[in-house]
Amino acid sequence: MSLDAIIERHRGREGPLLPILHDVQATVGCIDTAAEAAIAAALNLSRAEVHGVVSFYHDFTATADPRPCLELCRAEACQARGVEAMVAAAEAAAGDRVRLKPVYCLGLCSVGPNARIGDTLHARLDEASLVALIGQA
Ligand code: FES
Repeated sequence: MSLDAIIERHRGREGPLLPILHDVQATVGCIDTAAEAAIAAALNLSRAEVHGVVSFYHDFTATADPRPCLELCRAEACQARGVEAMVAAAEAAAGDRVRLKPVYCLGLCSVGPNARIGDTLHARLDEASLVALIGQA
């Protein structure tokens, strides 16, 4: 789907900026300055307003990263279940091949530590299963 099509898809919504940004990030893999400018023009916003939103949220990136991404929950419930002790092994397993992204709650707090790859959630991880998951990413 093109940038223009994404903008048109959400233009009539109340508060279209975030849905547009999410779709551009998911479709293109990043929101570069050209996309920011086009979105700003389409929504009658300043480029600074759009850039401010893009740079505020960690889900949005200015350049595409082709590596697989594993989101590892580092929030309180997963911390209480030992995620911090697994981080060094996860980083070693990921190396430069897999992007490890800290996130702060995946909504499965009672069955942590948790991670997500794409749309798939992985619960009750221990160090061995987390390293294996990274190896499969
Ligand atoms: S704190 Fe990790 S899923 Fe909620």
